[in-house]
Amino acid sequence: MTKTSLHRSAATAFLLVASLFTFNTPSLGQDSDEDEFEGLVAGPGQEEVLIYCSACHSTRIVQQQGLSRNEWKETLEWMVEDQGMSEIDEPDLTLILDYLAKNYNVERPNFPTN
Ligand code: HEC
Repeated sequence: MTKTSLHRSAATAFLLVASLFTFNTPSLGQDSDEDEFEGLVAGPGQEEVLIYCSACHSTRIVQQQGLSRNEWKETLEWMVEDQGMSEIDEPDLTLILDYLAKNYNVERPNFPTN
């Protein structure tokens, strides 16, 4: 991975954040959380997962996994090492891992039904 591509994905993440805020402001209180967050269940870390993980693919690919915290950690390391994701700094990394391990774990409490 080159420095340029690192910077480019950081810029993409930033643009995504910016566009999220612009897009959501007028519809506050109207849209259901489910639409705004692509079906990601509510809770701490929901927004971070949307921001970081929808840059390259649908968050559906995330929701369809049922992994332990350690497997999520390995998945994120794989995203960084082989898929070109920028490393996620703390405190976001812990927030994201906690969110994924709580809501998309081996028991699949929130497996998408459609
Ligand atoms: C820089 C782009 C990029 C970002 C950002 C990214 N991913 Fe991925 N992700 C990929 C690519 C590319 C694949 C497909 C890899 C493959 O199947 O070969 C993938 C596949 C996956 C898969 C499917 C694994 C499987 O077993 O099929 C999961 C789960 C996943 N990503 C989770 C995440 C999570 C969680 C985040 C946010 C923390 C994230 N990704 C952010 C590029 C990215």
